[in-house]
Formats: sequence, C-alpha cells, structure tokens
Amino acid sequence: MLYTPIQFRNVELENRWVMSPMCMYSCENGLANAFHFVHYGSRSQGGTGLIMVEATGVEPRGRITNKCMGIWNDEQAGNLQKIVEFVHSNSESKIGIQLAHAGRKGSTWNNIQISIEEGWETVAPSPIPYHPTERIPHVLTVEEIKEQVQNFKNAARRAVAAGFDIIEIHGAHGYLIHQFLSPLSNIRTDEYGGSFENRIRFLLEIVDVVNEEINENVALFVRISGTEYAENGWDVNNSVELAKVLKEHKVDLIDVSSGGNIHGAKISVFDGYQVPYSSRVRNEADVKTGAVGLITKVEQAQQILQKGDADLIFVAREILRNPYIAVQGSFEMEENCFFPHQYLRAKISS
Ligand code: FNR
Repeated sequence: MLYTPIQFRNVELENRWVMSPMCMYSCENGLANAFHFVHYGSRSQGGTGLIMVEATGVEPRGRITNKCMGIWNDEQAGNLQKIVEFVHSNSESKIGIQLAHAGRKGSTWNNIQISIEEGWETVAPSPIPYHPTERIPHVLTVEEIKEQVQNFKNAARRAVAAGFDIIEIHGAHGYLIHQFLSPLSNIRTDEYGGSFENRIRFLLEIVDVVNEEINENVALFVRISGTEYAENGWDVNNSVELAKVLKEHKVDLIDVSSGGNIHGAKISVFDGYQVPYSSRVRNEADVKTGAVGLITKVEQAQQILQKGDADLIFVAREILRNPYIAVQGSFEMEENCFFPHQYLRAKISS
C-alpha cells in the first residue's frame, strides 16, 4: 500500500510517504534561502509522495522564533515559489506548506522565551502563559481574532500563487489554534470560548477562509494534537468530534500528532506512539488521516496502512537521517517509485 497513489481533490500523491513539517530556524525576516532550496529540493529526490514545508508564520508574531519562516509578504512567497518550481519540475513529489501561528508559544529561542525587545509580545485566547515563568500573553479581542483569520486567508492566497499543492493548517502542538481548542488554555466567555462548538470556532473560520482561496487543484489538511495528555484537557474523543466537523468543512485529511499545549505533561513515547490516535480519528470520524511519530521503518509504515490506521505516513527525524527512505523502501519491496533519472546507474546495486 505504501506505493499506491492517493488522491485529494485533483492532487495525486505518488505514494504514502510524507516529509513531516519541520522548522529549520534558518530564515532572516521569514525568507526561505539557499539552505531551504537544497533541503527541500534534495528531499524531493528521495521519492516521498509529499513534502510538507515547515511551520510558516502567517504574521511576524506567528513565528516561534525570529528565525522561523514566514508568508506574510510577497517576497517570502516569491522565494518559496522557487522551491515549489524545482520540486515540480525535477521530481514526482507534491509540495505543501504548513500555515501556522505560534500564539503564546512565540518569541522564543531554544524553547526559552526571549524579551519583548528581542522578540515580541505574544498573543493567546486567554491570559495564561505556557509556562508560569513566561509573560502573560496579550488576550486577543474578537476584532483581533478576525484579523488572525484574515492573516491565514492572506497566507493561503500567497501559498496558492506560489504553486503549493497542499495547505496544512497547524492546529497542533500547543500553538495558537490548539490554544483555542483546549479548555485548559482557552477560558474565554465569548463566542470563542466555553463550549466545544465555541472553542473550535477559530479553527473553523480559518478552514472556511482558506477554502475560499483554494480550488480543486489544492488540497487542505489540518494537523491536530489527538490528545494533550492532561486531565480535563483536549482528548481523543474531542479529536474524533472535531474531525467529523472538519470533514463537513471540506478538510481532506487530518494529520494526527499529539501534545504540546501543557507544560510538563507526561507522555509515553514508543515506536508509533501516536498511531492509535490516527486510527481512532480515521475509523470513528470516517476521514482520511496521517500518522506521525517514531515511524522509522518501511515494514512498520506498511503495517500502519494495512491495518487501516492511517492513509499517509508522515516522517520527520528519520527523513533528516535518511532522505532516501521512500526510494530505498521501493527497492526492498520491488515497487515503483520516482528515482532521479540522473541517478539511474545507482538503481542496480552491483
Ligand atoms: C518538528 N515537528 C514539527 N511539527 C509541525 O507540525 N511543524 C513544524 O514545523 C515542526 N517542526 C519540527 C522541527 C524538528 C527539527 C523536528 C524534529 C520536529 C514535529 C514533527 O513534524 C513530527 O511530528 C515529530 O518529530 C514526530 O515525528 P518523528 O520525528 O518521530 O518522525
């Protein structure tokens, strides 16, 4: 199944391998540069069906660090376009971009909050910092929430113009959207807080405006944290309910990760530890899902798909170690996979 194509709207992925989004903290002013061109370009030579560009801020305060990527202006989108064009003209990979806002987890370096002077005042649904030693974030007014929705819309428009095949909205890992979803970080009493329906409103508004900017040639994914490992917090039952609603709002795939919103939450980490969340969301909400987290072997990836636990396999750290995991797996399994024509002499091992 790993090498069976899959279609989202008019976007067909050649196989089920996805390069998971990974911040590289290597931009100036949010601009992709030569490093990113080589980094993403070389992954496209490794045969993955989809490359997901790292969390990309929809406004300057949406970044995690000063070195994170951005897509709040045309220059940033123009640099990204060069990467997209390379991938499209030199591989079979499709390329997506993860649109993100860090919210209260912004203005950091090496996971430590930096000063307002060096960074910025963070924003959040409620006056609750991620860690008690951090500054209290600015609480977004309803008007400011609408501006954030607009930031995602503008970012999506630029991403479409740059030629991306897929847009992924980052609703996971304790960043702004997740902060709205969770009753532990969102204690608002207006239409954006309180009930489940109110806490998911911000995400749904973003999904709807992004859908206004894309057409059948661009698919829409949402990454969520399947659970935040905290009593009375966001859990997998909430994720299943959210996935049902997202499906109605024309989201094509739920990329199921976990954690990130509750400092010090106890997480038991083992091979494929997040796959059960993907499985529950996929089978109970009847949606397509991606599995991620310590998936490092071809056989393991194949089994996840065969058991019906996911439709796509997102690989992060292993693809930094081994950019050729997809093509190597195809050799082992004697399946077809893109391999650069310039490299064909290496396809025969002797
Ligand atoms: C990440 N991860 C991540 N996730 C995300 O949604 N957006 C991002 O920009 C990043 N950035 C990032 C940077 C680096 C260096 C790493 C290692 C990870 C999380 C990543 O996509 C993935 O979900 C986890 O790493 C678990 O998968 P692996 O590494 O076990 O395959």
